Amino acid sequence: MKNIVILISGRGSNMEAIVRACAAEQWPGRVAAVLSNRPDASGLAFAAEHGIATGVVDHKQYPDRAGFDAAMRNAIDAHQPDLVVLAGFMRILTPEFVEHYAGRMLNIHPSLLPSFPGLHTHRQALEAGVKFHGATVHFVTPELDHGPIVLQAALDVLPGDTPESLATRLLDCEHVMYPRAVRWFVEDRLQVRDGVVQVQPAEPQWLLALSAPAAGISQ
Ligand code: GRF
Repeated sequence: MKNIVILISGRGSNMEAIVRACAAEQWPGRVAAVLSNRPDASGLAFAAEHGIATGVVDHKQYPDRAGFDAAMRNAIDAHQPDLVVLAGFMRILTPEFVEHYAGRMLNIHPSLLPSFPGLHTHRQALEAGVKFHGATVHFVTPELDHGPIVLQAALDVLPGDTPESLATRLLDCEHVMYPRAVRWFVEDRLQVRDGVVQVQPAEPQWLLALSAPAAGISQ
């Protein structure tokens, strides 16, 4: 039974999706704790209501990033995690912290990496005029929003889309893809070789959520 610790900063809808899938599908794992850097993160209430240990390490109480990271690391390690899941956790982590969880920390980023790392990904996608947008679950490495890609979901950008409409459609994909990727991890199905992740036995490491019917190809 693998221990999963989930870090959130806000509403925690991806955390909720993982908690629900873990219970419904009876994974060989359990969500041991949900921790936040913000005392007002609304997702903490959901976790507590589901009998999951919760905790807050308030970044505002620490003078520097290293001090916060050390405290957060202690809080996480108290739950003996096999996997740390970043789910809307809005803090940049020190390389030391990332190294400590190397190979056992996942993140979801709302873009088709390596395009659009960082913030405001939906606006970045619209301004670039891309026709597909998406989300990526990846292993966390010291470089922000990089790291071996586990699973990607793509959707088509529609005329009139706004950052908000893209975020809403994409969140539905995230709630399918993140539990799937976490499940693969707890089932020991992920292999990383030369920075490339494969799932064994193989199954598609992508999802398509197209709104518009395929237009056909013409020249
Ligand atoms: C998601 O869009 C995720 O991709 C990004 O932050 C958002 C978190 O949403 N990293 P929630 O807190 O899981 O509802």
